[in-house]
Amino acid sequence: MKKALKITAYVFGGILLLAGLAAAYIQFAPAPTYDAPEIPEITIVHTPERIAEGARIASMLCNECHTGQDDKLSGKKLEDVPPVFGQFYSANITQSPEHGIGKWTDSELYYFLRTGLRRDGSFAAIMPQFPMVSDEGLYAIISYLRSDNPRVQPSAHEPLKSKYAFLGKLLLQFVLKPAAFPDQPVPQPDTLNQLAWGRYLADGLYSCYDCHSASFTSNSRLVPEQSKGYYGGGNELLDMDGNTIYSANLTPDDETGIGKYTEQAFIQALKYGQRPDGSPLRYPMRPHTALSDEEVKAIFAYLRSVPPIQNEVPKKP
Ligand code: HEC
Ligand code: HEC
Repeated sequence: MKKALKITAYVFGGILLLAGLAAAYIQFAPAPTYDAPEIPEITIVHTPERIAEGARIASMLCNECHTGQDDKLSGKKLEDVPPVFGQFYSANITQSPEHGIGKWTDSELYYFLRTGLRRDGSFAAIMPQFPMVSDEGLYAIISYLRSDNPRVQPSAHEPLKSKYAFLGKLLLQFVLKPAAFPDQPVPQPDTLNQLAWGRYLADGLYSCYDCHSASFTSNSRLVPEQSKGYYGGGNELLDMDGNTIYSANLTPDDETGIGKYTEQAFIQALKYGQRPDGSPLRYPMRPHTALSDEEVKAIFAYLRSVPPIQNEVPKKP
């Protein structure tokens, strides 16, 4: 009996010691590094059409995180990341060679947007990666970054360096990893097929599923439909003041989802941030004014086709 107790004590002590060592390791170990990638050369022609389309996409996909106080994409503090992960600042991505991305090549930008890796192998873990955006979509965004649009003209602003807290470091060591570079071209969706188009917009381009499924931690970035609670809502997010807010259930369930939405009501909600009862949609749900009605209808059609999930999401937490 006594011996058994002693063994238990040893085992328990051992586990504690290991846990302590692991915690110390995570706290003090350097961020994981990656080999400098071999970046395939691509040539992107910056046509006026691409620049305009890139500006439109970026207004919904990049500006929110990168717009600094000078109204350029000069970087800022990301207020809605829970502080337990750390304090994060986006980068200056204006055309300034010293402070922005003036020295990056188009190929490097393309590689970075796909994988999160810079040319030196450093990994921008907090920046989302865009594995499912079409090549054409990324070419448009890159053309916009190179254009004479006022938002991307050189800015000397230098955002502070991001600081990872313990939980952030834990994610960095074990969870956040660069995405694989696609081994095949990523085609544009077929806009004549409304469901395929809507799915591309909702899952591939604007990642609606990411906020609108059960949790960021159980989302599948490469096969969004495999995300837990796909479009069932309830993901715990933060509003501007750091208060909890839950994402809405967008599945066609009549009672807890948007089953009773008409197409017109959906346009009003998605483009102008207003529910059918007139209540405003709160941050981080943003009005997507730059979407065309045809795009919104395609997203609506796609959301109508996903399996309904009965999940009552608290409206006012
Ligand atoms: C959720 C917020 C967020 C969104 C959305 C976002 N970014 Fe970022 N971006 C960041 C953060 C944070 C960094 C800095 C990452 C780091 O240093 O670890 C960054 C870094 C970058 C860099 C690297 C700059 C450098 O000098 O290292 C580029 C290029 C970039 N972003 C472009 C874009 C583009 C283009 C889009 C839209 C398609 C976009 N970002 C959307 C947060 C975001
Ligand atoms: C950054 C996270 C985030 C992203 C990305 C996002 N949403 Fe939302 N969405 C929310 C939150 C949070 C709410 C709930 C807002 C509230 O309760 O005021 C919401 C609410 C909604 C509603 C209102 C539903 C209702 O309750 O009546 C619709 C419709 C909607 N989102 C559609 C979309 C679509 C379509 C996309 C992609 C184009 C999208 N959202 C992307 C966070 C997000």
